[in-house]
Amino acid sequence: TTMLVGIFTAMMLVDPQLGFAVSIIVPPMAIATWWFKRRMLESSRRIRAANSRITASYNETIAGVRTTRMLAREETAAEEFQVISEDMRSWTVRNALQSAVYLPVVMSMGSIGVGIALWAGGVQVREETGLTLGLLIAFMQYAMLFSQPIQELAQRFVDLQSAQAAAERVQELIEETPAIRDSPEVAARIDATPADPPEGVASDGGRAVVETIRFEGVGHAYVEGERVLDDVSFELSRGTTLALVGATGSGKTTIAGLLARWYEPSEGRILVDDVDYRERGLDWWQSQFGVVQQVPHLFSGTIRDNVGYGRLDADDDAVRTALERVRALEFVETLEGGLDFEVGEGGGNLSQGQRQLVSLARAFLADPQLFIMDEATSSVDAETEATIQNAVEEILRDRIAVVIAHRLSTIRRADLILLLDQGRIVERGSHDELMAAGGRYRDLYLAQFVDEAERRIIG
Ligand SMILES: Nc1ncnc2c1ncn2[C@@H]1O[C@H](COP(=O)(O)OP(=O)(O)O)[C@@H](O)[C@H]1O
Ligand SMILES: [Mg+2]
Repeated sequence: TTMLVGIFTAMMLVDPQLGFAVSIIVPPMAIATWWFKRRMLESSRRIRAANSRITASYNETIAGVRTTRMLAREETAAEEFQVISEDMRSWTVRNALQSAVYLPVVMSMGSIGVGIALWAGGVQVREETGLTLGLLIAFMQYAMLFSQPIQELAQRFVDLQSAQAAAERVQELIEETPAIRDSPEVAARIDATPADPPEGVASDGGRAVVETIRFEGVGHAYVEGERVLDDVSFELSRGTTLALVGATGSGKTTIAGLLARWYEPSEGRILVDDVDYRERGLDWWQSQFGVVQQVPHLFSGTIRDNVGYGRLDADDDAVRTALERVRALEFVETLEGGLDFEVGEGGGNLSQGQRQLVSLARAFLADPQLFIMDEATSSVDAETEATIQNAVEEILRDRIAVVIAHRLSTIRRADLILLLDQGRIVERGSHDELMAAGGRYRDLYLAQFVDEAERRIIG
C-alpha cells in the first residue's frame, strides 16, 4: 500500500490530469472486488463445511467399516459419500472459477487504466499542450509499476477469503459455550482455593473424598418433553458397586452419564455427600472418574504409553504393577518388546480383550475414586470376560462404581442391582434378594444361565 501511495503521488506530480485518468479504474475495481468477495467467501465457507462432513463421514463409514459391512450399508454409505464429495467438488470448482475470473478482471482493469493514460497522454503530446514525450514515458513507467502491486493485492485478497472461511469455523468452535459449566458461585470458590489445596480439600474448596452419592427422584429428557428416565433414586457409599440391568434403551448409559455430569438431570437432584453436585466444581468432579467403555480408546504408541497415560509421572514399576493387578502383565510379557510393544492405531495390534485389559490397567494406575464401566465386556468372549471380571474386582475395591453389563454373571457380586425398564426402576436389590423375589431379574438370569450352559455343552 505504501508503494501504491508513493507511485500514485509520483504520477500526480508528473501530471495530475493523467493521474486522475488512471484513477478512474479504481471505482470499477472496487465494485468488482466487492462483488467477488461475497461470492468467494460464500464458496469458501461451503468448501469448509463440505470438508468437515467428508471427514465425519469418513470416520463413521470407513473407520467403522466392519459395522457398515455387517449391516449391509456399504452401498448407502458409498452413495452418501458420493453426494458429499460431489458437493465439495462443485463448490471447489466454483471457487476456483471465481478466482480465475476475478484475477484477470482486476488485471484487465489495470491495463485499461494504463491504456487510457497512454491514449490521453499521446493526444496531449501530439497537441503540444505542455506534456513532453519524456514526461509521458516516465508517467507510463509509473503507471505500469502501479498495476503490479494491485495485482498482487488481488491475489492476496483471494487467499484471504478462504483463510477467513477457515478461521470462522475455528472461531465458532472456540466461542461455543458448553451447556454444562460451573455456576458463578462455584467458579468464585474455585478461584478462592489455592492451586495446591491442603490434604482432603478439593480444587473447588469442598471435600476431596467422596463418601456417598445419592440420586433423588432423578428424571431426564435429552429432548424437551421426551423423558427417558423417571424418578430414579438410590444411594451408594464408598466401597459399593451398583449394577444397572435392562434392555437396550432402558436408560442405563443415561444414568452413568448423569453421574459423570456429562449432562445434568432435568428433574431431581444428585447429591455428593449431601451437596448437590452442581454446587461442586465440574473439573474436579469429572477428574474423579475412571471410565471404561465398550470400545476402549487406545492411542498409537507403546503399551507403556497407553497405561502411563492414566498418570503421567508413573515409572515402569508403577506401570508393571498396574498391569499385574489387572492380570494383564502375563499377556504383555509374551508380546515382542513387552512394555515397548506398539499397539498400533486404535490398538489394532491387540485383541479386543487385550485392549480392554490395557485400558483397565490405565484406569487402575490413575486411581480414581469413582468408576464407570459401560458394557466393557460385551464384545469379548466368556473366558476373557472372566479375566476382565477379576481385574475389575481389583479396581473396584474401596471405590464407588457403576457397572453396566449384558451378561448377568458379571454383575452378580454388585451390592445393588437396579433393573430398568423404559427409564424406570422396576426391581432393586442384591443378586440373592432379586433371585429370592422371583421376579423378572430371576427370569432373565435363568434364561441367560441356561443359554450359556447350553452353549458350553454344545460347544
Ligand atoms: N444423546 C441423546 N439424545 C437423545 N436421546 C438419547 C441420547 N442418548 C440416549 N437417548 C435415548 O435415551 C434412551 C435411553 O438410552 P440409553 O441410556 O443409552 O439406554 P441404554 O444404555 O440402557 O441402552 C433411549 O431411548 C435413547 O434413544
Ligand atoms: Mg448404553
